[in-house]
Amino acid sequence: MIKHFLSVIALLCLFVSCEKTIKDSSPIKGLITKNAMVVSARAEASKIGSNILKKGGNVFDAMCATQLALAVAYPFAGNIGGGGFMVYRKANGEIGSIDFREKAPLAATKDMYLDENGEVIPEKSTLGAMAVGVPGSIAGIFDIHEKLGSMPIEDIIQPVIDLANKGVIVTKKQARAIREYQPLFPKVNKYPIIFDKRWKENDTIKYPALAKTLERILKFGKHEFYKGETAKILAKFIQENGGIVTEEDLAKYEAIWRTPITFTYDDLKIISMAPPSSGGICLAQIMKMLEPFPLDEFGHNTLKSIQAITEAERRSYADRSFYLGDSDFIKIPVETLIKENYLSGRMAGFSFDQATPSSSVSHGNIQIIESNETTHYSIIDPFGNAIAVTTTLNGAYGSKLYCSELGFFLNNEMDDFSSKPGEPNMFGLIGAEANSITPEKRMLSSMTPTIVEKNNKLYMTLGTPGGSTIITSVLQTILNVHEFNMGMQEAVNAPRFHHQWLPDEIRIEPNAFNKNLIKKLKTLGYSINEKDSPILGKVDGILVLEDNSYEGGADYRGDDTAIGF
Ligand code: GLY
Repeated sequence: MIKHFLSVIALLCLFVSCEKTIKDSSPIKGLITKNAMVVSARAEASKIGSNILKKGGNVFDAMCATQLALAVAYPFAGNIGGGGFMVYRKANGEIGSIDFREKAPLAATKDMYLDENGEVIPEKSTLGAMAVGVPGSIAGIFDIHEKLGSMPIEDIIQPVIDLANKGVIVTKKQARAIREYQPLFPKVNKYPIIFDKRWKENDTIKYPALAKTLERILKFGKHEFYKGETAKILAKFIQENGGIVTEEDLAKYEAIWRTPITFTYDDLKIISMAPPSSGGICLAQIMKMLEPFPLDEFGHNTLKSIQAITEAERRSYADRSFYLGDSDFIKIPVETLIKENYLSGRMAGFSFDQATPSSSVSHGNIQIIESNETTHYSIIDPFGNAIAVTTTLNGAYGSKLYCSELGFFLNNEMDDFSSKPGEPNMFGLIGAEANSITPEKRMLSSMTPTIVEKNNKLYMTLGTPGGSTIITSVLQTILNVHEFNMGMQEAVNAPRFHHQWLPDEIRIEPNAFNKNLIKKLKTLGYSINEKDSPILGKVDGILVLEDNSYEGGADYRGDDTAIGF
């Protein structure tokens, strides 16, 4: 009955031009719109982005507004003190991407997180000022606006300043998240911060300091953040708290336009992020390893599908840990890594009769890990341009270091480097020399903002947070639509699993998989971990339907919301 009611609503949405929002714990059909859509982690951010599109702005204008609005409405991961990646596809088919990932400060050293015995110092790369990489988000926003935007920047930033002044209502999930991380804030910050208060659901948090920072950024542009008063306050603040980011680091920061990774899978063309993200390469590896298997015949989340996907993931993550890092500093054999004959060789040893132990797949005896608490948004504008943006502070509330004068959290992205090759990071990923710390180098990421074409036309834009599980969540969502005929929301809702080579286990969402299936996987030699990941990713995506309308998939696992018209 409820399903039927939602379908009617969705159908009605096709014909009404007013703004529509559907939010339910897990609807089977997402919001459907005719012209444009924004799907992000918070309704406030999706609304600001959608309003920009309504006023005639394009997807790039909406990106700038949504990114900044998430810094206000979703301080858990939305940011101006972190970084990210955007992949785009213009209506004319032109594609591109920009890297506004953080980078290591000039004073960074390879062993900066090790003690005199060469052991990793606990929490040094995750908590507090030493964990902070040079932030890239403001550079990304302004470079995107300068090259691809169409609206005056005032019209983009002012609504976000207004939101910061007016305040944002605390959701149930947000109240829980603040409570969970609250014990860490006084550990890192010398003085009380706004998030020390016992915020409850439906309280309103106002962000006047962030509003002031944004006002200055609006007035003086990106140089305010990297060379102006904000830069001076920020560098001084980080150093006073024991960090090493200097005014020179900020002044030298540049976002970088990069050629995306592209590959085909059946009749799809996938466009995803190149290094320093591992997302595009790993997604390409896994999908090309899977292409020969009839997954549609195996069925969704069946024994054979899970086996094939797991084995492809295992092999790709083994390569990831050894080969991948910042391509501006190391040589990555990208072409070879995604070549069909290389990948069919990688799968040669796989049999449905038993699991391949990760110890026999290795490329070196090392693993890699990253953080979970990233965020993703997808936007399509009325002109048919599309973007996928994944952005992060790394951990939840980043390093937990909050600059009260400027009104934002600083990232702990330095933990995405391998502090000590062979040692797992906060996500259990193990890294190699390729991802060791060097001044000005970008740390390896798993962020996988992805756009999919079908028959040369825009088909999907999607991505997710989830650290090392980002790549496999994006993969499963694409497969859910393409192989298993799901709509966008259904594909987002579907239970997910994850394998990352090391640890040698399949992580699954709790109570979402059939007990018999789990038993069979165990019999075949797979170790199943149902405890460590109550949530695997929070995918936000948009699917172009056959009648050219859009279906949003906003992940019910968070406060994610699709808004459009
Ligand atoms: N910090 C998470 C990632 O970049 O993958």
